[in-house]
Amino acid sequence: MHRFRNRRLPAAGSLSIWQKVFLGIDENGRAVRVSLAERNLLIGGEPGAGKSVALNLLVAHAALSLDCRLILVDGKRVELGLWAGCAEAFVGPSITDAITTLKALQVEMDERYDMLLSIGHRKLTRLTGARVVLVVIDELAYFSATVGESRQQKEFVGLVRDLVARGRAAGIIVVAATQRPSSDIVPTSLRDLFGYRWAFRCSTHASSDVILGHGWANEGYTAASIDPAARGVGWLIAEGGIPRRLKSAFLTDVQVVDLAAHAAELRNGGDGE
Ligand SMILES: Nc1ncnc2c1ncn2[C@@H]1O[C@H](COP(=O)(O)OP(=O)(O)OP(=O)(O)O)[C@@H](O)[C@H]1O
Ligand SMILES: [Mg+2]
Repeated sequence: MHRFRNRRLPAAGSLSIWQKVFLGIDENGRAVRVSLAERNLLIGGEPGAGKSVALNLLVAHAALSLDCRLILVDGKRVELGLWAGCAEAFVGPSITDAITTLKALQVEMDERYDMLLSIGHRKLTRLTGARVVLVVIDELAYFSATVGESRQQKEFVGLVRDLVARGRAAGIIVVAATQRPSSDIVPTSLRDLFGYRWAFRCSTHASSDVILGHGWANEGYTAASIDPAARGVGWLIAEGGIPRRLKSAFLTDVQVVDLAAHAAELRNGGDGE
């Protein structure tokens, strides 16, 4: 299993999931980076606002990080599909597959807690040795409100909620995006479990608040004020902080193909477990 392993020197051209991930540039021209190994990330915004572009940045960093396993869930398949060769599991439009994959992760999460307990640690760190598992879901609402029966949708939401609530300390991190920032898709109780929240252009102040947190629109931090033509611009908030407006970095399809090929080569280079 994914327990202890000898620490090795990082492979040339690789990154670590414990390093901060570059997301873009803020209004003051400063680089914006997030520490994914420590917090879950929720992304919301209207269609075409820049969510999948943002997800590709995160997946690119994770794919190049040999200390990270990737689970990709993408109902459209094309948003994250170019990274399939770097992923341990790639779930397309099947809710049954999505549920099976998340259930397996839930089992692994509990095993990891057993392991942590047995060594007297409360959370997984870089030194524990087990790899971080990054679960990326594009689009949340597709599985929670569109495909499958309502029983399956509920089961899917329950699994996502459990992974977001309990996964972090066990090194299982969830990044989820939705083009439906409404309280039925992202109830407050789920939203608040995400330590990072990134709102791209939203059509209303209320939907911006669904992502950033209640009350921010009133304070002037609202993704509804972003120009619809300003794709890739959004507000990012980290737990306990105030929102920062940034323009996300952008990888072209050609760059994604090149990076994915490089990452797959690194991953096939014998560093697996
Ligand atoms: N940071 C950026 N810089 C430049 N262009 C961008 C940026 N972000 C997004 N775009 C442009 O906007 C388009 C739509 O972005 P993206 O596919 O990420 O939207 P989305 O929010 O995922 O939409 P949907 O909900 O329909 O999936 C991109 O194809 C690209 O042309
Ligand atoms: Mg998209």
